[in-house]
Amino acid sequence: MLRIAIQSKGRLFDDCMELLKESGIKLSNAKRTLLIPSSNFPLEVLYLRDDDIPECVANGVADIGIVGLNELREREKDARIVKELGFSKCRLSLAIPALIDYPGLEWFNGKTIATSYPNILRRFLDEKGIKADIHVIMGSVEISPNIGLGDGIFDIVSSGSTLVSNRLKEVECVMESQAVLIANNGLDQEKLEILDELLFRFDAVRNAEDKKYVMMNVPDSSLDDVLKMLPGVTSPTVIPLATQGWHSVHTVISEKVLWDLVGKLKNVGAQGILALNIEKIIQ
Ligand code: PRP
Ligand code: ZN
Repeated sequence: MLRIAIQSKGRLFDDCMELLKESGIKLSNAKRTLLIPSSNFPLEVLYLRDDDIPECVANGVADIGIVGLNELREREKDARIVKELGFSKCRLSLAIPALIDYPGLEWFNGKTIATSYPNILRRFLDEKGIKADIHVIMGSVEISPNIGLGDGIFDIVSSGSTLVSNRLKEVECVMESQAVLIANNGLDQEKLEILDELLFRFDAVRNAEDKKYVMMNVPDSSLDDVLKMLPGVTSPTVIPLATQGWHSVHTVISEKVLWDLVGKLKNVGAQGILALNIEKIIQ
């Protein structure tokens, strides 16, 4: 049995639950208790506050955990990063009142900065040779400058709307963050094997995310042109249609190139183009 710690509420919760679900791991959600075993996979889920996750994984209360890289860096706990999960992307940035001119980092000399991430901020300021006071507050950091609790703030920025609504502007991005899967350093063989299977499933879910299964009908005269256009990861499937002189072409392509490609495919005569979501790609 492997125990995974995830955030009980907040920005990571929904994405983590979705990832487990897509990975085919069933959890009874009758009532959300602290610890829930899966009914079809040797995994139990421990719901914690995100600031507690690095410590619990480091000391073995949980075997693995999903946490923001920002939390891991702030807590300075001894747990290894197994995988970057690619969701909950944000950055940790310095921000100041929008109307103030910002000449550069030296502006912060002698100023007070409010934050929930004092360790990351301290390391950054030391490295840059800036002497500023750090005022630690937990939550609602963004209102600090408006109520005289600090000259600037150091906080999570995602969409940037919190800064805008508090009339602040981002002036320095200190680190990029995203959800990471972390693990205790002393997992035994049995647990490592379960972790491998879990990673295999996470990969299958992620690989499918930005991919589409594309099908189209192509007149034989255009078949060569169409096949040349399709990205060549694996070769496309080509099936003759009941109507003479036509083939159906199936392939998997990245969503990023889809729109660009659709136009070109139509230009050379492809018809009835369908793009379908893919649930998993097992490699
Ligand atoms: C963070 C941060 C801001 C907000 C920024 O808070 O403290 O309040 O997100 O996001 P935005 O750029 O999309 O507006 P979070 O939601 O993580 O909760 P907390 O700080 O209250 O714990
Ligand atoms: Zn906040």
